[in-house]
Amino acid sequence: MTNRANELDAAGEDIIHLGIGDPDMDTDESIRDALQLSLENGRTHYPPLAGEPALRSEIASHCSDFYKQDISPGQIIVFPGCQTALFATMQCLAEAGDEVILLQPTYATYPAVVAACGASIVYASLKPDDGFRLHIEELAALVTDKTRVILLNSPSNPSGVVFTRAELAALVRLCLENDIWLVSDEVYAALVYDGEFTSPLDIEGSEHNVVVLRSLSKSHAMSGWRLGWTISPVLLAESLAELSQPMLFGVSQFIQDAAISALRNTDKIVPVNRERLHRRRDVLCERLTQIPGFKVFHPAGGMFALVDISAFECDGETFANQLLDATGVSVVPGFAFGESVANCIRIGFCQETDQLIEAARRMQRFADTYFDKKRFQKKKRFQKNAWQQLSSRLVGTTSMLFDLVFPKSANDGLQCAAK
Ligand SMILES: Cc1ncc(COP(=O)(O)O)c(C=O)c1O
Repeated sequence: MTNRANELDAAGEDIIHLGIGDPDMDTDESIRDALQLSLENGRTHYPPLAGEPALRSEIASHCSDFYKQDISPGQIIVFPGCQTALFATMQCLAEAGDEVILLQPTYATYPAVVAACGASIVYASLKPDDGFRLHIEELAALVTDKTRVILLNSPSNPSGVVFTRAELAALVRLCLENDIWLVSDEVYAALVYDGEFTSPLDIEGSEHNVVVLRSLSKSHAMSGWRLGWTISPVLLAESLAELSQPMLFGVSQFIQDAAISALRNTDKIVPVNRERLHRRRDVLCERLTQIPGFKVFHPAGGMFALVDISAFECDGETFANQLLDATGVSVVPGFAFGESVANCIRIGFCQETDQLIEAARRMQRFADTYFDKKRFQKKKRFQKNAWQQLSSRLVGTTSMLFDLVFPKSANDGLQCAAK
């Protein structure tokens, strides 16, 4: 869908891109300056595999503040983004014969990551009816002696759900009791608008079996820089660093130097980005909820709103294609995140508010046209039915009158005459 939108854009169509999860904000100048300085200082050589010691220390200190607990540099391994951190983690934790539980709706890349390590996927479908909440009994019923990892994402892409402390405490307990790793993708941890963010790391006992994945992509508007990390028990961190050798040979020194600057400027950068996205979420969701046929799952965090479009009597893919053709608004069909949300579309709010307002206006017109057409067709069907009823009544009345005027015997006679 995004490719088709890009092609239409390149062909000169007026496209509004609400499919991608890439903040439109530029990376802060202080970070770009740090990169420049690093290059001038000749920081262009092979880096240590686990990450530059200075960056690992900076991340450990940043995360100790964020999670309000002691996190040591030895628990941190630097990767090019959260996605690579996830890939490496799954390679270390699961293999053929193991089962990995994914919560559906699930981030689109997860199934391929699990497939790449040879493990089987078991889906735990979170229900749209109760806002995709986590019910531990349902999850527990899927656990077998082969279950090796449960992969969590909060705030969730695509649902925008932020799991509560109670949900996560039950999940951590389930994992501890069954010797399961809990991998927590927290790429949107700094982008929570309603309520509080809680990580499984905040739950007692989690230091044994939880791996957290973070990056600067969303919080610091640095998606193209490719800088993320894992927080894990030290033993696993050592395996991750070993894997980094055949897989990556480390992350560019100058990117890591810029990342130190990004983390040191967090208080200046992140609140501004979060406030901007918060406002965009409010502007978009307020308008989406007014569109007929749109059932919006209000996102508490992240960059996306998931919308159930079943009222349009088609699946999310058909809807997204027709919406793109008719209005130039590009969104992602729900099936990219699993069967359970195939009747949904995901709408991003990474663009400026005027773009979001214009996109909502186009979607409103699209929905109005659809329902006007439906009403017209219904009216036409009603008129047709009414006419059929009227004409059959007319035929009945005419034949009654005919029978009255021409009694049966005369009628027979007339028919005979007609022959
Ligand atoms: C849930 C989730 N995890 C991971 C990623 C990838 O993040 P990164 O850019 O840090 O690799 C994304 C990107 O959109 C995401 O939405």
